Formats: sequence, structure tokens, C-alpha cells
Amino acid sequence: MQYERLVQWAREVFEERWPGRKSVTIWASSECSNMIAQNQVRAGRKLRGKARYDGLQPLDSPVVVPISDYGSRGKKMMLTATAGAYLFKFSVEDSDPFEVVYASSYFDDDVQDLTAIAIVPADRLETWAAFEFACARAVRPRIRRRRDVYIIGGTDAFFDPTVDWDDVILPDDLKDDLVEDMEAFFTKGVQIYRQLKLAPFRKLLLAGVPGTGKTMLCAAMAKKAISHGRIVVYVSGSDRDGASFEKIQRALQAVTAARYPVLLIVEEIDAYLQGDDKARVLNVLDGVESPNNPEGALLLATTNYPEVIDERIAKRPGRLDRIFVIPTIQDDAHAEKMLRHYMADQWRDEHVTVISQLINQPGAFVREAALHARMLAAHEHRTEVTLEYLEQSIDSLLRQIHSGSDFLRERRPIGLVHASGKSKKAQRHNPFGFHE
Ligand SMILES: Nc1ncnc2c1ncn2[C@@H]1O[C@H](COP(=O)(O)OP(=O)(O)O)[C@@H](O)[C@H]1O
Ligand SMILES: [Mg+2]
Repeated sequence: MQYERLVQWAREVFEERWPGRKSVTIWASSECSNMIAQNQVRAGRKLRGKARYDGLQPLDSPVVVPISDYGSRGKKMMLTATAGAYLFKFSVEDSDPFEVVYASSYFDDDVQDLTAIAIVPADRLETWAAFEFACARAVRPRIRRRRDVYIIGGTDAFFDPTVDWDDVILPDDLKDDLVEDMEAFFTKGVQIYRQLKLAPFRKLLLAGVPGTGKTMLCAAMAKKAISHGRIVVYVSGSDRDGASFEKIQRALQAVTAARYPVLLIVEEIDAYLQGDDKARVLNVLDGVESPNNPEGALLLATTNYPEVIDERIAKRPGRLDRIFVIPTIQDDAHAEKMLRHYMADQWRDEHVTVISQLINQPGAFVREAALHARMLAAHEHRTEVTLEYLEQSIDSLLRQIHSGSDFLRERRPIGLVHASGKSKKAQRHNPFGFHE
């Protein structure tokens, strides 16, 4: 076992440096070797137990092959999670300095999690715990406040509450219903909950296949909320930290601490309904762990997989107050509106010919088809996007979809969307491979 070899090696190093010193071997936090922590937790940092962190020294170990993840944090790319062996040095007021031998490594090729062990002097566990805590805090997803939007995690995600309500092309009654639900809750509902001595927390779900405009709707709702002086808390599961309950927890803290009404957006909530976190997320929905913000909190969650929700949430009353199904294009009028929107000044009346092919497609399909047609025309130095280009574009998109999903899974349309940091899992499940 890898950890046994790690421990054996680390103990030998420790014994060589501190012969006879009593130590304990512990599972350590893999955040101590994370480059984000190593850059932020600097030598000189004061720690519990009148101690001070004095810096680190990398160690050569025959059982650890150093390797780092390279990913984005905010707008910057940087080294993050790291396998490696280190000597962490500490000094203590009125006492002898001490060292901790630390190693983090991947158990085997299939497991993506780092395993870390540490040899710590038996009487210095408290200081070590404080150091681990400081490292973990440096690495954890942070809440960024941007205008009136708190973004939890989602460092790779794109969320901008600047989408205009009118740009979201969906049946009017659906849009009206959704916005009326939000307004009714904040203007009247909150009072009623309070009179009933209930935490004012309402839960809505937008469900629909990828690319139907759920994220867009969230952004447009966020814009409306902000214009009414509400705070928006946005949780994304698509950064490298994935969909951890910790993010939900931080979001709930932000919701509770806000002294304003809050619109809480949790995208792709199904991702949190897996593994160990499931029970805790359900507790939040059931009200056991829901936030208590007397001004009111409205949860707007989205999912691409309504069937997951069906099983775990919809069957139990009270978990969700309302489910809005966000449909693909259902009729000619809707299709034409979408196509005109994305063809913009390139629209020609002959384009209506393709309308019937857009039925049952999501808005993202129309956008891609329109953009691709315009690019085909541009490529051939044509100023007009003829019907032929549009048909060609739709054909090739449909062929891609029907040719099986393997190719589409990998597909990231170049130049049509910004580079997105979708999690691997989400990419695998997205049958269109569209940017979400
Ligand atoms: N209903 C719609 N109205 C206008 N544009 C849409 C619509 N649905 C999708 N799109 C286009 O497709 C893109 C992806 O849609 P998105 O909101 O991310 O879908 P979802 O979150 O449902 O997967 C949007 O940014 C937009 O350009
Ligand atoms: Mg989305």
C-alpha cells in the first residue's frame, strides 16, 4: 500500500533528523502541499501554541513523484493541488523549534484524490492542526463579491447578471409565471412565512435538457433581483472544486448573513445529489438546514436531468415548491423568433424554410446553427448568408448529433463560445456538447 511506504519513508527521515523525539503519524490534509496554500501561508505566520511557521523545504522521496495540477483560480492560471514531500518548519516561543515530515501522493492511477501523511512531534499536534487549518482556508473556494452578486466557487464559470429579460426567448406565459413567482414571494410571501413563524425560503427548479436557456434565465432573473435591491448568491459546481456540499454551505452562510432579500442560484443541483453530500442537500431542501434570512431567500436551482430530480426530490412534497420545465422549441413562431434573433442583420425571408427543422431543438442549437452559417459565408467571402449556408450548417450540426455522442462529448466549438471550464462529469453527460 502506498501510504505504508510513505509512512515508513517519512518516519526514517524524521528519526534521522530528530533521533529519539516522540512523534505521531497522522493522516494529514492534502491542502498543505497545495501551491495556493504554499503561496499564501508564508513563513512568519503566527499559529496557536505560541508557535510560528518558519517555512518549508522540499524533500526528495523515493516514494513520491512530485506533480501539480494546473488550473484557474479567478482569472489566473496557477499550480494548485500537488503531490510532494516536504519538511515544514516551526518555532515556538520559549521552547525548541520543531519540524513535521509530510508527504502527499496519489494512491494509485485511478484515484484522483491525494493522500497525505505527516510525522508530527507528539506534543505539537495543536500547532500542526492550526497550520493545516490555515492551508485549508487558503485553498477553499472563496466568496467573491461582485457588485451585488456573491459567487461561490465557479472560478471557471461565467455568470453575468446582464442578460435582458427580452433576450430570453421562451413562451411568454412561462417567463411571466417565473417572474411573478419571485415578485409575489418577496413582496407578499415573506410576510406570510414570518407570520407562520417559518423561515421565508422558497424553492424553484428549472428543469430541461441542456441549452434551453436555463442559465440565461437565471442571469436575467438575477438582473431583475438586483434592480430591486436584492442580493444574488450564485453557486457553480463547474470549477475544479466540483460540486461539494461545502459550497452550498458557504452559500447558505452568505444567505443568512445578508441583511437583504436574497436570490440564491444553484446551477446543476443534481450534481450535489450524489454520494455523501446527497443527504445534506436534501436536509437543506427539507428545511432542516435551510437558511434563515428574515428578509426572504428564493432558491432558483437548475438541472439538465429532470429524471434525477424526479426520484430524489419531486416525490417528496415540500422539497421543491415549484418545478418549471424549460422546453425545447415547440412551435414555428418560437423557432422563427429564435432564428431571427440569432441571424440578426443577416436574416433573410427565405430562411423561414428551415424553421420546421428547429422544432424540438434547444435555443443553443439555433444559436450554433446561425453562427456556423455566418462563418461558412464569411469563409467564402460572401456578404450574405444564403439559405444554402443555413441549411448546410443545420445539416452538419444534426449529423454531429446523430453520429453518436462520442465525438460530441469532446466537442468544444472553437470561436463560438468562450472557453468553458465545465467539469468532466458534466461534459460527459451533455449530449449536445454545447456550452452551458
Ligand atoms: N431560450 C433561449 N433564448 C435565447 N437564447 C438561448 C435560449 N436558450 C439557449 N440560448 C442560447 O444558448 C446558450 C446556452 O444556453 P444556456 O442558458 O446556457 O442553457 P442551459 O443552461 O439551459 O443549458 C445561451 O447563452 C444562448 O446564447
Ligand atoms: Mg446551464
